[in-house]
Amino acid sequence: MANIIRIENIANHVGEEVTIQGWLYNRTGKGKLVFLQVRDGSGIVQAVVFRPSVSPEVFEAADHLSQESSLVVTGRVRAEGRAPGIPGGYELDVSDLRVIQQAADYPITPKEHGIEFLMDHRHLWIRSRKQWALLRIRATVMRAIRSWLDSHGYLEVSTPILTPAAGEGTTTLFEVDYFGEPVYLAQTGQLYNEATIYAFGKVYCFGPTFRAEKSKTRRHLTEFWMVEPEVAFCDLEQLMEIEEQFVSYIVQTVLQERKLELAVLERDTSALERVQPPFPRISYDEALDRLAAIRAATPDPELKELLAIEWGSDFGSPHETELTKQFDRPLFVYGYPTACKAFYMEPWPGRPEVCKSVDLLAPEGYGEITGGSERISDPELLLQRIHQEGLPEEAFRWYIDLRRYGSVPHSGFGLGVERTVAWIAGIHHVRETQPFPRTLGQVYP
Ligand code: 4AD
Ligand code: MG
Repeated sequence: MANIIRIENIANHVGEEVTIQGWLYNRTGKGKLVFLQVRDGSGIVQAVVFRPSVSPEVFEAADHLSQESSLVVTGRVRAEGRAPGIPGGYELDVSDLRVIQQAADYPITPKEHGIEFLMDHRHLWIRSRKQWALLRIRATVMRAIRSWLDSHGYLEVSTPILTPAAGEGTTTLFEVDYFGEPVYLAQTGQLYNEATIYAFGKVYCFGPTFRAEKSKTRRHLTEFWMVEPEVAFCDLEQLMEIEEQFVSYIVQTVLQERKLELAVLERDTSALERVQPPFPRISYDEALDRLAAIRAATPDPELKELLAIEWGSDFGSPHETELTKQFDRPLFVYGYPTACKAFYMEPWPGRPEVCKSVDLLAPEGYGEITGGSERISDPELLLQRIHQEGLPEEAFRWYIDLRRYGSVPHSGFGLGVERTVAWIAGIHHVRETQPFPRTLGQVYP
């Protein structure tokens, strides 16, 4: 057996005899030639089996190999401009082939399949090119998140998944029986980050987050990954500066490191190249004025209806989509009405009906990718807000306590990994950005 290589490194082995361990992605051929598209997890290469170059047994095996059969193939690497593959441009002239297992009839064939069928076969679907590309982009996004934060002085602090308090409203809680006491799966780690900033200054938590979302949309999962940075001595303006640096770094890292994957997804990358600070900032009030102007100008009665909104309501996806169409990069909307945001947000000076909140809206209809705010730092005001929202004071005693021992202005945000990946990869629905997504209608496989 020759030197075992990974397909992603094939360019370094032109002219050499190498061995690749993998699976059969697709097979074509005629007469004396069989073309095997072999994938090994790092890429796809075309292995050419020429009858005169191999034993009769090897040719027979190649000619009858079924999709997803596992195999070990040996051959000489040749640069071949037109050869398909990831990366394209290389072929393997096969000298030997060993079949590890001849696969049973594989349910996902190169023909089109419906989304329900594919979701039910997610354990197999992740082998497909597009899904492979997406999940590799996801891994890069997750690494870029950690690498930016780690190199900017943030300490990663794990926050609990089982929590006694509702952080983001009481309507999306998953309740768990904790030895007879009700607790909830974490909707956010933020409240705990607000404790750890007093120990470490700048922190983040990064993990799965749970919301019993009863809505079926392209943007909602019931289990998603969120990174939540939190910073002491930080106001809303400084928070936006952090966010635009952070998000730009993530996008530029994917552009640099995942070119092949973006090409597999046929992503138009010109819009992503523009993702550089500063991002435009508009207030909620200005957003409402813009929406009113769009409504007045559109001849489309359906859009007029969809964009109707009263001061005090949160945006729906049509509002976010139309607003972001007016800008060429992600858009900050700040100063939302207090009524449509969580209880812990600092009021706007002189305008208690508005809070120091900011959402970052991705371009091209991908909607909100981060939500953040300056937090209330006064214990009395915080207690008042907890009462106003009808939350149980008992569960928040420790949280209010934080405001008694060296309270400082502080801010933070949460970025949803799946929405960020969907936007960067240019795919319609967030469910494809997770290996095994959970939605209102899906907890299998
Ligand atoms: O705006 P959200 O609810 O903010 C928080 O949870 C804050 N505690 C964050 C903080 O300040 N530390 O959620 C933040 C982000 C959203 O912008 C979105 O990207 C994502 O989390 N998100 C979801 N992603 C997929 N499915 C869902 N159901 C999501 N809900 C929120
Ligand atoms: Mg939000």
